[in-house]
Amino acid sequence: MTAVRPDIAPKQAPEATRFPTGFVWGAATAAYQVEGAAAEDGRTPSIWDTFSHTPGKVHNGDTGDIAADHYHRFRDDVALMKQLGLKAYRFSISWSRVQPTGRGPAVERGLDFYRKLVDELLEADIAPVATLYHWDLPQELEDAGGWPQRVTTDRFADYAAIMAGALGDRVATWTTFNEPWCSAFLGYGSGVHAPGRTEPAAALRAAHHLNLAHGRAIEVLRDQLPAGAQTSVTLNLHQVRPLTASAADADAARRIDAVGNRIFTGPMLRGEYPEDLLADTAHLVDWSKLVQDGDLAAISRPVDVLGVNYYTPTLVSLPEKGESGSGNDVHGASAFSPWPGSEHVAFHLAEGKERTAMNWSIDPDGLYHLLMDVTRDHPGLPLMVTENGAAFDDYVSPEGRVEDPERIAYLHGHLDAVQRAVADGADVRGYFLWSLMDNFEWAYGYSKRFGTVYVDYASQRRIPKASAHWYSDVIRRHALPSAGLS
Ligand code: FCB
Repeated sequence: MTAVRPDIAPKQAPEATRFPTGFVWGAATAAYQVEGAAAEDGRTPSIWDTFSHTPGKVHNGDTGDIAADHYHRFRDDVALMKQLGLKAYRFSISWSRVQPTGRGPAVERGLDFYRKLVDELLEADIAPVATLYHWDLPQELEDAGGWPQRVTTDRFADYAAIMAGALGDRVATWTTFNEPWCSAFLGYGSGVHAPGRTEPAAALRAAHHLNLAHGRAIEVLRDQLPAGAQTSVTLNLHQVRPLTASAADADAARRIDAVGNRIFTGPMLRGEYPEDLLADTAHLVDWSKLVQDGDLAAISRPVDVLGVNYYTPTLVSLPEKGESGSGNDVHGASAFSPWPGSEHVAFHLAEGKERTAMNWSIDPDGLYHLLMDVTRDHPGLPLMVTENGAAFDDYVSPEGRVEDPERIAYLHGHLDAVQRAVADGADVRGYFLWSLMDNFEWAYGYSKRFGTVYVDYASQRRIPKASAHWYSDVIRRHALPSAGLS
């Protein structure tokens, strides 16, 4: 980084860079990515255990069997979070750890892990933010048909009730689903995620049932949680941009916005599926049968806050007939499309932008526009950035340090975008860095490091990267370092 001489650095009033009072600073993980202890204390396989143990599905044959061993090391991890000054920790619950068959009574040993984790967090003054589902369906429920089957929504509502009963007195913020788009369309469409099915119609059915399960869980949570508790859902809203100003590319953007975003925000926030989505996919599912009486009312039960995950924008075009479209391999390449009904749309990487180790282009303005677009479309809706971060090829220096200036620049740019959105009227309540520590990055296994804390998997030693110290400083100041002086 070029140092700017303090005497010529732009002058900024300290208040200008401060975040709103009460803005929450956190970091996020997910159960299968960090916990390990895959077969301990009664836990049974989830679809991700089965998938990762299937040869050829995950890079290098990596699995979450041990992961970052958070299950055994959570006390040290919480101590590290406290040391870094984090105010909140977003984690997810492994459904098959607390309800191994996905049905019936809970297993106390499984619940105890989350009770202890939450107690440890509260003791450290770190607010627990619990996500019920971050992609790890109990395998038994997939064997019974999985998310394309409506009955899975009954199972999820029961599971939500178990968790609200076990932790409702001490977890104040609850999220039903993390990125249901990935569960539906990568899990059942392109097949790059568990359970690895490639059935476009099943993917759309899964999307509706994930929506319904969300709404039913919100109802359960609202009934059981104390009045002050907050409910939410986290969506990976695609910041869709057309490649050119042509009408064809505008149509590509509309299509991807429909099956990428509005398929969730429509029913959840407006109580209806968008007409254009229904038309684009009418040849695949009979929506009039899939969506039953009362479903939309259930799905649209209000949430207190919307979680938004953002990494990179989505640049699309509609190739001429005969030209082939390119896939969107954001979470892994596949011959099958994760975009039912819009398989012909092509995806591009913006030119002239720096990229992360995932080959995702770095574009903080995308986050600004995403927050502003949601604010325009759903005025007054409180937002939370529940994931944002980047993978780079981090390594430990001979002196034992991990220098990650690219991640610092990424975080700085994106936090600045959050701040600009707040200044322009977006009600953003907090920011959760993805991820607290390096972990199992789904189809990429351990080859991609998103952590702000480095994990040496052989020894399970944690080493806070330079970005962790930087983030810690941002939290302490409640502000970004002034331009040129960081
Ligand atoms: C998101 C997932 C998270 C992690 C990041 C990089 O889509 O929610 O688990 O894989 O991407």
